[in-house]
Amino acid sequence: MCGIFAYLGPRNDAGRVVIDGLKRLEYRGYDSWGIALQTGEDRLWLKKEVGKISAVENLELPNAQIAIGHSRWATHGGVTQKNAHPHLNEKGTLAVVHNGIIENFQELRKELKKKHKFRSETDSEIITHLLEDFLEAGKSLEEAARLASFRLQGRFAFVVISNSERKLVAARRGSPLIIGVGEGEYFLASDIPAFLPYTRHVNYLDDDQMVVISMDKLIPDALFLTLEDASPISKRSIEIDWDAKGAEKGDYPHFMLKEIMEQKETICRAANQDDALIHEVVDLIKKSKGTFLLGCGTAGKVALTGSYLFSRIAKEHINAVFGSEFPAQAHFINDKTLIIAISQSGETADTMEALELAQAKGAKIVSIVNVEGSSMDRMSDITINIKAGPEKAVASTKATTAQIAVLTLLAYAMVGRLNEAKQLLVDAASQITEMLNPRYDGYIETLAVKLKDFESMYVIGRGLNYPMALEAAIKLQEVSYIHAEGFAGGELKHGPIALITQGTPLIALVSKDESEPEILSNAIEVKARGGYVVGVSPENNDIFDYWIKVPDVGNAAPILSIIPIQILAYKLAVLRGNDPDMPRNLAKSVTVK
Ligand code: AGP
Repeated sequence: MCGIFAYLGPRNDAGRVVIDGLKRLEYRGYDSWGIALQTGEDRLWLKKEVGKISAVENLELPNAQIAIGHSRWATHGGVTQKNAHPHLNEKGTLAVVHNGIIENFQELRKELKKKHKFRSETDSEIITHLLEDFLEAGKSLEEAARLASFRLQGRFAFVVISNSERKLVAARRGSPLIIGVGEGEYFLASDIPAFLPYTRHVNYLDDDQMVVISMDKLIPDALFLTLEDASPISKRSIEIDWDAKGAEKGDYPHFMLKEIMEQKETICRAANQDDALIHEVVDLIKKSKGTFLLGCGTAGKVALTGSYLFSRIAKEHINAVFGSEFPAQAHFINDKTLIIAISQSGETADTMEALELAQAKGAKIVSIVNVEGSSMDRMSDITINIKAGPEKAVASTKATTAQIAVLTLLAYAMVGRLNEAKQLLVDAASQITEMLNPRYDGYIETLAVKLKDFESMYVIGRGLNYPMALEAAIKLQEVSYIHAEGFAGGELKHGPIALITQGTPLIALVSKDESEPEILSNAIEVKARGGYVVGVSPENNDIFDYWIKVPDVGNAAPILSIIPIQILAYKLAVLRGNDPDMPRNLAKSVTVK
């Protein structure tokens, strides 16, 4: 949520490096963008615009070796040029980019307004004015940043430059900021793919830490300090194994399509986990007095899928909770509790806050994440990496199915059947390889053409497919903007069936298990009321108006059921003229509450 990118180094085109970096971060926020450059003039050079950074071409930029930039997802203040970052002080000598939310912004704004003229409605501009006050009191840029951070409540990552000091100064509490370490040059970004074309060596800034990257001092590396008392922290950079190509679209028109297609390989990669690691987590589950699966949005639906998998395969009760709802369960948490967090980014604020709450009560934390070195990875007792590679489309696809694959391993391993789970997933992956072909794609596109002008559609499932009906609805909502809702098949007759009129599309996710007759009955009830029934099922049935075949893969059914819906959502988005990679109002990594 909001992308930060900054550069310091020998290149004279720091502005272009930052613009390109912001383009690779655009999935984090795309309302507006801005950059500030240190050019040697009295005022920093500034450019801010409403709109997407990806549309920017041939921008004339002055030479600079230090630059900061930002791609915004609006929280405080509308989508306007003034509210875009960076925020400069009146003299134009200081520039700040910020990600997060400053919770005490109203009181700080009131106080600072007595002395400073605010030019935006944002909470972020407060940081600029706080810094200016500390600089005027004779503090250095880094000391000003450190002291300013004491005044801020909430989550933040900010980077500041001035017109006079040859440095980048950044601080973090709760929002991600990663340092890319090149040959005598440094990159600061909210996410790793942004600087992958330049370096794979990274340093993670942890909460309550700051970094000073300077051209003036001969320092061996960026200087890391605690925010509390500016004590130096020693950090070694690590090499990550993502490559720049994996984070590019290649020949695909959109990341979402590329990532859907990658599921041929990502399920196998996710299944290929170290047995010892899986057994370590299983031991924790067995020892715990209460395990909670936790996630938000799609990851929340995966958590629910996990609860069904554990019940079905391991006969083990595991709770599934949305991160934002976790505080309501907090009184059940103690040092015997185990929390398993599910998150693609490893940065989602609602999940992070739930984990911090649980950790404070002594609970153990396991995280299932895609981003190595993410906040959740680093705060967990054990991390399972789903190994899906960079997921850039806002709508999660390959991370979703990889997370389900890992939960399937855990559920089977609980009853000593880990190898069986690995085989099941490898078989499912090979079926996906056969399924994802141009004919299948065209067949789903034909359905998308039929459905594209409907105002509403519904999805039903039972058992393992119930959480996938909920996930299907999220996928359809976020990229097609068609009103979609998912229900447990049996729940329809308790209310939602009143919504069915002549032609209303209903997608039934059907598996070849004990739930099959009942979900078909639910679909028949809808058909009897004029509904248009789309069956996603291994077998055709007379009641289906449109049949999307999915292979019968037993307990891997949730993975297979969701893939055609991902394709359908993508096709609907394109047919309706939406950008599936950057849907309106959304951002990839939701680092605000
Ligand atoms: C997925 O399609 C959504 N964009 C969203 O619900 C997402 O799953 C959620 O914000 C959680 O993100 P995370 O996996 O990075 O924690």
